[in-house]
Amino acid sequence: MSKITVCARFRPLIARERQERGDSFCIERIDDDAFLLKDEKEGEFKFNFDKVFYQDSEQADVYAFMARPIVHDVLTGINGIIISYGQTGAGKTYSMEGMGVLSTVKSSEGILARTVAELFAHVSSSKEYADYSVKLSMVEIYMEKVRDLLDLSKDNIQIKETKSQGIILHQITEILLTDVEAALRILSTGITNRAVGETQMNLSSSRSHCIYLFSVLHELTGDKRKKCAKLMLVDLAGSEKVEKTGAEGKVLEEAKMINKSLSALGNVVCALTRSSKSKGDGKENHIPYRNSKLTRILQDSLGGNSRTALLCCCSQSPANASETLSTLRFGARASHIKVSPRVNFTGHRQMKTVGVLSPAKDESSEYVGAEVVEKPEVGHVKLLEEEMLSLGEGSGLNFTDSEEVLSPFSMQLEEAMKDLASSLEQLRHDNDVLEKKQEDARRKITVNNNITLLSTILKSLKPLWPVFGWIPALRIPKCSFCSFMQ
Ligand SMILES: Nc1ncnc2c1ncn2[C@@H]1O[C@H](COP(=O)(O)OP(=O)(O)OP(=O)(O)O)[C@@H](O)[C@H]1O
Ligand SMILES: [Mg+2]
Repeated sequence: MSKITVCARFRPLIARERQERGDSFCIERIDDDAFLLKDEKEGEFKFNFDKVFYQDSEQADVYAFMARPIVHDVLTGINGIIISYGQTGAGKTYSMEGMGVLSTVKSSEGILARTVAELFAHVSSSKEYADYSVKLSMVEIYMEKVRDLLDLSKDNIQIKETKSQGIILHQITEILLTDVEAALRILSTGITNRAVGETQMNLSSSRSHCIYLFSVLHELTGDKRKKCAKLMLVDLAGSEKVEKTGAEGKVLEEAKMINKSLSALGNVVCALTRSSKSKGDGKENHIPYRNSKLTRILQDSLGGNSRTALLCCCSQSPANASETLSTLRFGARASHIKVSPRVNFTGHRQMKTVGVLSPAKDESSEYVGAEVVEKPEVGHVKLLEEEMLSLGEGSGLNFTDSEEVLSPFSMQLEEAMKDLASSLEQLRHDNDVLEKKQEDARRKITVNNNITLLSTILKSLKPLWPVFGWIPALRIPKCSFCSFMQ
């Protein structure tokens, strides 16, 4: 088990912040890992992270510390996820994309371009070059709908769960990457398709959560299996106080949806940290992954089999101190999450992090049915619910609506399933006791039958007893049974 890597990053002040509060800062550097945050209302707080990137930090530093180790692991078959989180306008997209993935300014290259370069540098220098394949998918979650950024006709991708692949994005586009240039062009096309709008905090504000999904497959010489790993780069939409950003109309609706899914992410992180602490008591903590598309897609990665890094992007202006405080608190909480990533092979049951699925491989209904019949568990409720949602979609029901409608039922179903599981447990126990009693009874009957047989034999021998009496060696010892027979 290892902890997730959590870093904080402070971008330079922007013009609006300078106008409002001049050149003052709400943070005071202690060292590379720690700083003080001063919030006028809430007071002073000390924060420690794995690394703090202050305003003079380079994009290369962020990549080297947070992303490079994860990218290297992905090449050895270990899943990875890097998430940029924070207030709107705090530098999440800048950290991921830099000044644009096609920018020629090398120093401003973000995590995305550097990741692509590192993946291909490794693959092309490897002796087993031909044995690697790198594929890319891109989706955004906009207004609680998952959209394929590489094929805009797929504007409501379904999230499914299968036994072997875990969480999957149904029929998502996957493009085989051939080299760095081609990869960056594809990324750039996808990014152009992403929903962007203008807010008071950010002229080019991301209005959706964007997920870049790299799948790396490595065929091993002399081994039938293939190593496979997924790398997810997640550029979240920013949280915002609508009264402060002056959002209205469409931007307001988007902001509400963004805040809702970020709060679902916060709840998942809280539940995960609770379950990390309570590990060992035998009880499984409920993690509310199903409360948003974002948490559902991140379920397998946050749930354990993935090396995880979180970049908390912040403003250091006193004007945004309370938003910065809440971002940092989120990061501090997340730093307690424990993960246990492992090497994944194709066909291996543990290969779980979000993947893609072709219709022919859809095994979820079969899986749910078989598992529930075989051994009903509370965890199956969410699978059943997923199946019901899929059926709802198939029959033209709106996914979001059906989720809302199903939510209370699924809670009841979960309770019923708990009762069913415990009744089943009790029945199994009763059955064991009954089987034991039956066995005892069977043994008693056999003994009784033998006694009856013996007594019949002895009775039939009775006339001969006087004869035996003359032969001392055949004299039957006097026992209670013989007395009884007489
Ligand atoms: N470390 C940095 N150095 C220089 N400029 C930065 C840095 N971080 C962010 N910026 C600039 O700040 C502005 C806002 O950044 P960005 O778009 O990355 O914010 P964001 O967190 O993605 O916001 P949103 O949630 O609204 O999408 C951009 O103009 C960006 O170039
Ligand atoms: Mg952004």
